[in-house]
Parts: sequence; structure tokens; C-alpha cells
Amino acid sequence: MKEPTSTRLLKVPEGLDVAAEALRHGGLVAFPTETVYGLGANATDEAAVKRIFAAKGRPVDNPIIVHVSDLVQVAPLVRNYPAAAGQLAERFWPGPLTLVLPRSGLVPDVVTGGLDTVAIRMPDHPVARELIRRAGVPVAAPSANLSGRPSPTRAEDVMEDLAGRIEVVLDGGPTGIGVESTVLDLTADPPAILRPGGVTWEQLRSVLQGVRPAPAAAGSGAGGSDTGGSGAESGPARSPGTKYTHYAPRARVEVVAGDPTRVGRRLRELAQGHLKAGRRVALLCAPSTFRGLADLGGGTVLRRVLDGLDYKVLLAAEVYSQLREFDRQGAEVVLIEGVSTSGLGAAVMDRLGRAAAGRVWRV
Ligand code: TXA
Ligand code: MG
Repeated sequence: MKEPTSTRLLKVPEGLDVAAEALRHGGLVAFPTETVYGLGANATDEAAVKRIFAAKGRPVDNPIIVHVSDLVQVAPLVRNYPAAAGQLAERFWPGPLTLVLPRSGLVPDVVTGGLDTVAIRMPDHPVARELIRRAGVPVAAPSANLSGRPSPTRAEDVMEDLAGRIEVVLDGGPTGIGVESTVLDLTADPPAILRPGGVTWEQLRSVLQGVRPAPAAAGSGAGGSDTGGSGAESGPARSPGTKYTHYAPRARVEVVAGDPTRVGRRLRELAQGHLKAGRRVALLCAPSTFRGLADLGGGTVLRRVLDGLDYKVLLAAEVYSQLREFDRQGAEVVLIEGVSTSGLGAAVMDRLGRAAAGRVWRV
């Protein structure tokens, strides 16, 4: 297939057949899931999957999750299907859980980055599942962003990064959860979370005792660092994707989490320092924190307050699109109120730690 020159932005359900047809013919289709938008190709078509890497500028050793719409699609992709996989699928599929299993010969090397395993998930989004069902093939799909940029949670975000590089974007509105799926390695003993995500460690433990939590992201550990700087990576990564800089907007990101009063004070100090240096500052925090900072002033403060009942859930849902929005507004520094690392907070702080390249303070 020749390189595309125009990308069709299609509504659902009308666009579903065109999109499924494109997938069957080696095309690239971006589609909504319950976590973030994915960039799909037929997982059994090596040439199609190669085009994903080219479109995203993705390192070729970073393997891709294979998405299914039905359990019957799993067996041909794996060499064996441990009992734990069945229990987890029963409880969490469709949903934001990706299972790493021993792969079969049906899965091309390009999908797994040469690993002996394949990552599989069944997304909990009607558009995603209907698309896969109509295409009639398992769909390999990373997040539909340019490599290193914040993941896309709206069709506009996908267009911003990939227009002109892919055939179709299916617009299914904003995604719900906002951070990616949990990647769980079932070939490790005990099973280990490689990437925290929409299904929490606490939830997994209720089905699989002894499951290992994700290692803390650089800079998100206790104490933080006043000088910033991400932790150096060493040794081979079991989940290769987690070794690359991710989710980074153009602006410098700084994160403060902890006791609300101290968070407010630290955010104020940081903002004042940046404003004094003439930088355009954006702020992403809970309404109560924002009220305490309302007098910061200076026409350069771009403010964004997440208003609602559960700040952690809202931050997960909105953080990627807000980072993109602040970039469009020309923010040079983005200050974010972080959250605790319990529940969904593990995934949120993992992504924030990466976006901030380790500039995370716990106060
Ligand atoms: O929620 C999600 O998971 C989204 C939506 C589109 O499904 N997808 C997503 O894909 O976040 P991506 O490519 O951005 O992240 C996939 C992660 C990477 O960290 C990758 O290294 C890891 O899964 N992964 C994929 N296959 C693997 C394997 N066989 N073994 C270990 N890690 C794997
Ligand atoms: Mg990604």
C-alpha cells in the first residue's frame, strides 16, 4: 500500500465499515478504547504492523499490544493459556488489563519486538470491539500518538499527531479512563505488573495473590528530588516501552504531591520563581488548592482547575489532553498537583513522573 496523503476522520457508527475494510487491506486505523485512542493494524500482517512504527516514529524494539474482541481470538495467539489468565480475563475483560503470555508462531516478530511473549487485551469500548469484530482479525495497536508525546484521549489529539500518516481516524468522542491499560506479565513468577494502568494492583491482588506491583517510576518515589533529573535506566527492560521518555509535552512539567497545605505552598513557590524569570506558567490542580493560589496573579498564569468529586479520577481522565492544551497555549512550565499512589494513583503518578522527567516532589 502506498503512503497515505490524506487521513479520513470518520464518525461512528457510519465509519466502522470503512475502517474495518482499511484494516483488512493493511491500512492504519485510529480508534477509541476506554483508556486512550489506539493506532490499529492487522496483527497478523507484518507489513501493516511495520507501518505503525513508521507512522509513530516508534523504536522497533518496543512491542505492541494485540487487541481482541472475543476470547476465541486468544488461543491462536498463545502457546499456552495459564489458569490465572482465565481467571483474570473472566474478572477484568473487557477492560484495561493487558496480559503478557507466551506467544504462538501466528504472531509476527515485528509485533513483539522479537520477544517470546505477546501482550493481549480485550478493550471495554463498543467502538473498539465492533471494529475488531468487523475486521475479523486481531488488531495490534499502540497508543495513537507520535512516539514520546502525550497519549491521545480525543480524536482531535490523534489528528494533531498523525494526520497525513494514517488512513482513518474513528471519532468516538473522549475516552473514559484516560491512562493506558495495566500490563501484567503472566510469564513471570510471581506475575508482575510491568506498567500500572486502569486495573489497579489492589484489584489484581483480589484475584491473584502475590502479584508484584509496578516498580516506582523515576522521580516518583519517596522524597522526590529538588534538583530533578530522571533516574538512570540500567539493564534490559522487561517491558521495553517503559524505558523510553513518554508522555512529554513541550513544556517543562513539575509535579507536587502530598499534604494539601504543603502542596499549595510548594506550588506557589515554584510558580513565583518561574514567573519572576518571565516564564509562562500553567497550573493543573484541585479546586481547593486553586482557591489558595487565586492571588498569584500575573497575566502569564494559565489556569486549569479540575472540578469534580474525585480529583484522582479526573486527573487521569484529563491530564493528557490538558498537557496538549497547555502546549497549544504556549505554556513554558506546567505545575501539576499530583496524587497518592494508591489505586489508580499508581498509573497517574507513573505517567506524571515520566512527563516531568523525574521532577516530582512529595511534600
Ligand atoms: O490502554 C492501552 O494499553 C493502550 C490502548 C490503545 O489499548 N495501548 C497502549 O499501547 O498503551 P502502547 O504501545 O502505547 O504501550 C504498550 C506497552 C508498552 O510499554 C510495551 O512495551 C508493552 O506494553 N508491551 C507490549 N508487548 C509486550 C510484551 N510482549 N512484553 C512486555 N511488554 C509488552
Ligand atoms: Mg503509548
